[in-house]
Amino acid sequence: MSQSNLEQKTVTYRCPSNIALVKYWGKKEGGVQLPANPSISWTLNDLFAETTVIASPKKGENSQIEFFLDGKSKPSFEPKIHTFLQRISSIVPAATQWDLRIESSNNFPHGAGIASSAAGFGALALCIVDLEGILETGTPEFYQKVSVCARLGSGSACRSMFEGAGVWGEISSIPGSSDEYAVAFPFNLSEKLTHWKDAVLIVDDGEKTVSSTQGHDLLKSHAYAQARFGQAHKNLTELSQVLQEGNVSRFIELVESEALQLHAMMMSSIPYYMLIRPNTLAIIELIWKKRKETNWEMAFTLDAGANVHLLYNSKQEADVMNFINAELLPYCKNQLYLCSAMGGGPTKIN
Ligand code: PMV
Repeated sequence: MSQSNLEQKTVTYRCPSNIALVKYWGKKEGGVQLPANPSISWTLNDLFAETTVIASPKKGENSQIEFFLDGKSKPSFEPKIHTFLQRISSIVPAATQWDLRIESSNNFPHGAGIASSAAGFGALALCIVDLEGILETGTPEFYQKVSVCARLGSGSACRSMFEGAGVWGEISSIPGSSDEYAVAFPFNLSEKLTHWKDAVLIVDDGEKTVSSTQGHDLLKSHAYAQARFGQAHKNLTELSQVLQEGNVSRFIELVESEALQLHAMMMSSIPYYMLIRPNTLAIIELIWKKRKETNWEMAFTLDAGANVHLLYNSKQEADVMNFINAELLPYCKNQLYLCSAMGGGPTKIN
């Protein structure tokens, strides 16, 4: 696209975050951001990023990027955005033809230790593909292209495009699945596993000692890597059945096992490291104890950090909220937890 075809345009999208049930951990060699194993996540539509992009034809040889988070200029984010735009330029050539002013905000506190990259890169990819103007907004082709682009920013971001659940990574049990982009979970979810919510218990709000990028890299020379990739395939195939049949007890077992496998991989890499904190374990123990006593339908999961995602059936909402407030809050940093239901995909704001 020549520069003269471009005029100033503005677009705003809201993109949800997601929480993986089967975890993406490790990249395939020889590609850009291709997953070593398939993953599935629930879309968390109450925890989102909202991004406005103002694009104007670039004035110089190189694109000028200005990035604002919550209204404050953040030049430190700009190199990452340049890399992202460079990566997606083979798919969206216009991406490097603009000067961009990017204004982003999250509806959860920045620095709460919640990975904001999935929602953030998801929202940015939505804006860029929309601004390109080739595909009709909201069509399956549009979301597929956005998902490819979002993946090139942050792998897990590509799964945030779908209502309910998204699957990323090729696996024979999920028709249409691909390493290049995520797809909506193609089967009906059982009523028993549809009305679930997520309370994110904030244990640590600090910067992670080892980034996800470094963590993925350590899988290249990890003694258990092949076994883990095989396990993820097996777990995803089984979880797909479990989600369709509504087998809640097996759902709980698979999801908790996946969370612990993710952290076990961190603890058994060289160099080894640990992101869970004493309060993470205290919360997990209390969840197990409470579940044993009450049989409530709830499970914990973890992302690459110390915070605990407590997934629960919304029919138990009042009980679970009492449990959190009475027993889990003392283990949360600043007594903070954030709530979301599993839900809808992105929305265009203007
Ligand atoms: O998207 P990344 O590179 O930040 O990796 C995310 C990895 C996990 O959150 C730990 C798991 C997942 O599948 O989301």
